[in-house]
Amino acid sequence: KRLILIGPPGSGKGTQSPIIKDEYCLCHLATGDMLRAAVAAKTPLGIKAKEAMNNGELVSDDLVVGIIDEAMKKPSCQKGFILDGFPRTVVQAEKLDEMLQKQGSKIDKVLNFAIDDAILEERITGRWIHPSSGRSYHTKFQPPKVPGVDDVTGEPLIQRKDDTAEVLKSRLDAFHRQTEPVINYYSTKGVVASLHAEKPPKEVTSEVKNVLSS
Ligand code: AP5
Ligand code: ZN
Repeated sequence: KRLILIGPPGSGKGTQSPIIKDEYCLCHLATGDMLRAAVAAKTPLGIKAKEAMNNGELVSDDLVVGIIDEAMKKPSCQKGFILDGFPRTVVQAEKLDEMLQKQGSKIDKVLNFAIDDAILEERITGRWIHPSSGRSYHTKFQPPKVPGVDDVTGEPLIQRKDDTAEVLKSRLDAFHRQTEPVINYYSTKGVVASLHAEKPPKEVTSEVKNVLSS
């Protein structure tokens, strides 16, 4: 399967991705995770992306299209993939279509994580992540077994620099202005399925499985 996960910050894309990935043997490509790794490693890409990310603005289309083009060539992605956080502009969606057309493939489903903005601040400000795996927790909704520590590796959890109420406003603004049009772009192709992303994580997972098995 070739899937796209679209939704505002905190809607649950990164939480559902590992579950879908394991269930369907897909690769998980999260542009946000890849960019954060590049920023941490101070690579040329990371240096270019850092400021926009810290301000809650989108990084340029060319940079993210480049990393996705490269990442999709991985052998683990040949059976199918989950794109988490990409495409986020109509230009990115058009570029992705071109890439897939060259391989004779196309997107099977776009999962739209529909949710009210008002719910997102609590989710974002309570999130703690394990940076090397991208696993996320929440102090209230998904607490780790030991506070501040990753369940799997025992390594410390950190908070994302852009996970403040202030930066969330810019991220939501970017979502509504630049990313919502991408949902319309795929609606015209008849591949969008909308989820009730405000429900508890397990219920969202069941909705995803229903959509993907139909
Ligand atoms: P990115 O990393 O993609 O961030 P985002 O889109 O803002 O999404 P989040 O990761 O915040 O939300 P999520 O939906 O994954 O939520 P999660 O499941 O963790 O992008 C970061 C930045 O990189 C961008 O601002 C931009 O600068 C740049 N960038 C990335 N891609 C780009 C692109 N294509 N083009 C240009 N720039 C790009 O859940 C959040 C919290 O809620 C967690 O604590 C979780 O435990 C909890 N939670 C999850 N589900 C539930 C639930 N159902 N009920 C209760 N709590 C829940
Ligand atoms: Zn995420």
